[in-house]
Amino acid sequence: MGDLGEGLSRYQKQGSCSFHTPGHKGRQEFFNGIDFLGIDLTELPGLDMLHAPRGIIAEAQKQSAGIFGAEETFFLINGGTVGNQAMFLALGDTAAKRVVVERNSHRSVMSALVLSGLKPEYVMPTIHPDFSLPLGFDVEKQQIPWRAVSACHVTYPSYYGTAFELNQLVDERRRMGLNTPILVDQAHGSHYLGPLFPPSALKLGADLVLHSSHKTLSALTQSAMLHVQGTRVSRTRLRQSLELLQSSSPSYLLLASLERAGEFALDFGRWECLQEEVEALHRKVGMSFRILSQKDVGTYGIHTVDWSKILINTLPLGVPAPRCVEYLREGYGIEPELWDEENILFMLGIGNTPEDIRRLTKGLESLARFAHSVGCAESKKRVGNDRLKIPALPHPMLSPRDAFFARKRQIPLKESLGHIVGETISPYPPGIPVVVMGEEMTCEVLDTLLTAGEGRWQGWDGFKKQTIWIVEEE
Ligand SMILES: Cc1ncc(COP(=O)(O)O)c(C=O)c1O
Repeated sequence: MGDLGEGLSRYQKQGSCSFHTPGHKGRQEFFNGIDFLGIDLTELPGLDMLHAPRGIIAEAQKQSAGIFGAEETFFLINGGTVGNQAMFLALGDTAAKRVVVERNSHRSVMSALVLSGLKPEYVMPTIHPDFSLPLGFDVEKQQIPWRAVSACHVTYPSYYGTAFELNQLVDERRRMGLNTPILVDQAHGSHYLGPLFPPSALKLGADLVLHSSHKTLSALTQSAMLHVQGTRVSRTRLRQSLELLQSSSPSYLLLASLERAGEFALDFGRWECLQEEVEALHRKVGMSFRILSQKDVGTYGIHTVDWSKILINTLPLGVPAPRCVEYLREGYGIEPELWDEENILFMLGIGNTPEDIRRLTKGLESLARFAHSVGCAESKKRVGNDRLKIPALPHPMLSPRDAFFARKRQIPLKESLGHIVGETISPYPPGIPVVVMGEEMTCEVLDTLLTAGEGRWQGWDGFKKQTIWIVEEE
């Protein structure tokens, strides 16, 4: 076996308790009866065609549409990423058009801007002071330039399971008598069915809704769904956009897993027993950590909290989050979805068991005892990008598409004032770009970057050398 195979096999042998994607958590029960090698096929006689389905794929998509409450569902085999990209391409003749996007959208939304040529009208999320993360979005305080845009793209829920008042956005559109499509990235909420979870974006009236079905449901990694209702977005264009973006050899393993994932999504009992254990976890360790919970609803633009995402801030414990992750990994074999200097996200999926959550609870209890016994208090203050302020939005000189294709060069950061920036730079957390490619370098942005500490940076090639990519102007 080569290095890649060996690496994977080594990882698998560790037998970690998964609080990360995929949602099936490696449990065989979701794939019983599926002969993986035997059905690793692509389009063959009798097997239908993903881009023009009339047979078994059409039937499976129809079944999923019924389950999730869509008029039509498209199976995606290139991740939720292509869902966001296809949404923008489907808006048609886009070069002069503008679209509302949240400044902290997933990078597939940013790539959708590049592919489509759409110009962004950014709206800002609310940063939660306890977690330093963009958990909320206050629709009332935001001025959505409805009349100037051809669509409004939002994320519901956030990575951390919080959601804003999407129904208000839909109401606002209705009050204004407009037909602007509302496109929703529900990548982290494909399990929003039944009474245990917030209402799905389809229920609230969104036009296009993306599910990354592999994140919390049982579908295989890279499989996702794009749901449609109404006529605000052309289905023909959507179909053509997906054909343009997706593989011409769709994997039937992924397609079959999507069909199954829809069926398992209706098994609400699986989630019920997890919810009880999560409530017990909150009771047992809620005093030692700051855990996002239902009590946070109604604050900082948070309208709902999904209990199946456990977001823990470790500042009250006085132990940096990466150290806590190490402790849980070494002592309890627990692997979270994501962490930064002070937060850890444990993501449940339909494949988790009550035993997994009990293990996590034990690990957290032990971690709290350990921290108290050694008198950890040194990190009760923030580290990393804590003092970093998000500067006012810089003036856009080029669209993300034009900036992406422009000729660029690297120059010393301190000489970049007034230039058009050629890369997108985000401090993480909170993951909101300080500057997006195509925007002008302002004094405020420059000052933020020049005084930036180590922290974690996304997309800043020259951080160490203090250089930056700029667009070459003629
Ligand atoms: C909010 C959001 N949207 C879209 C995506 C892209 O989904 P995928 O990884 O399935 O391509 C992600 C991935 O993490 C995401 O977090």
